[in-house]
Amino acid sequence: TKPVKDNQMALQREFQHFMLKEIYEQPESIGRGVAQYVASLGSSAPSFHALPEANCFEEIQILACGTSLHAALVGQFVLEQVAQIPTRVRSASEFLAAPLPVTRQTLLIVVSQSGETADVLAAMRLANQQSSSGLAGFKVFAITNNSHSAIAQQADYERSVGAGVENSVAATKTFTAQLVLFYGLALAWGRQRDRIPDEQWVTWQSRMAALPSQVDQVLQQDDSIAAIARSLKHTNHIILLGTGINYPIALEGALKLKETTYTHAEGYAAGEFLHGSIALLDHTIPTIALCPTPPFRSDPSLENPPSEGGDQMLKVTQRIRRNGSDVIAIGGSEAAIALPLCDQLLSPFLTVIPLQLLAYHLAIARNIEVDRPRNITKSLNSF
Ligand code: G6P
Repeated sequence: TKPVKDNQMALQREFQHFMLKEIYEQPESIGRGVAQYVASLGSSAPSFHALPEANCFEEIQILACGTSLHAALVGQFVLEQVAQIPTRVRSASEFLAAPLPVTRQTLLIVVSQSGETADVLAAMRLANQQSSSGLAGFKVFAITNNSHSAIAQQADYERSVGAGVENSVAATKTFTAQLVLFYGLALAWGRQRDRIPDEQWVTWQSRMAALPSQVDQVLQQDDSIAAIARSLKHTNHIILLGTGINYPIALEGALKLKETTYTHAEGYAAGEFLHGSIALLDHTIPTIALCPTPPFRSDPSLENPPSEGGDQMLKVTQRIRRNGSDVIAIGGSEAAIALPLCDQLLSPFLTVIPLQLLAYHLAIARNIEVDRPRNITKSLNSF
């Protein structure tokens, strides 16, 4: 529509790089997705037009690569925790090496921003071969940002996340747009399966509607995030820690740092980091800890599973500080970067934003051509 176009043109004038522009477009793109995929769902038996209903499958498998794989891991969490649908995620290239058994009761979801990634296309072909060798009947649902792409065209069902064109090689707004769609699917299928009572449904819808302004609040800390990025200019290794639904965000933050700043960065589940990998740490290696929502309890009105994740993050970060390493906390009582209070299950929308900004500003501090980093392309559609 016209206002969106005007807004996009204004954004383009204001920012020197597509990556920063696209990071800043997220309140708008998330808001659009929430309006389309969550707010528009009816109240009693919500359904998506032309998408499978929850009674058409018993389990979900998701295949993707790179950033889309991390969105799939967050998606798995909400599909399992909210809709209570058994869900498995595998990188498309690993599916090629060891395909998961697909049955008539499987819904195979493929996620690809570009809709052209070669490994995802090959995995779809392999799954279809399995199907034609006796397991006919399972359906493939493609989530892309381009309904005209090969992956969207070859699937039984397809949905665009509607993030608009993403020019920067590093994916940002398409990642959060993929999350919105996964939450919309989990909510619709959870409602269809009677897993979300009325009060929770209303709470979910209003919490999702609040996300654009919460993301905006995080963006307002851009100057202090840029200062932290500059302090990391000569750092060669960075560890990122998260728990639960923020573990995939630690992986995604590490990928953003590797892609755009060429820093060796690794994401870990916080508790697992203690089992050996902590031996890596010395005072030259900082840790970024994702600690949303102090004290990290779920909002009881959403009846999420109780979480000990916050306590665990605290214990792990205390241990790391005792070992003499710096901890940069995102959220929590010792936050270097504060986050608005939000439910644990919605926190990925907020924790990922400072990581995107950090990657951007560190790339700028190092004079890297941030929109076109070396060795990688927007989509790996051939080798
Ligand atoms: C390439 C890019 C990654 C991207 C991945 C998956 O490797 O460098 O940034 O996440 O492809 O792309 P897709 O278009 O399938 O989401």
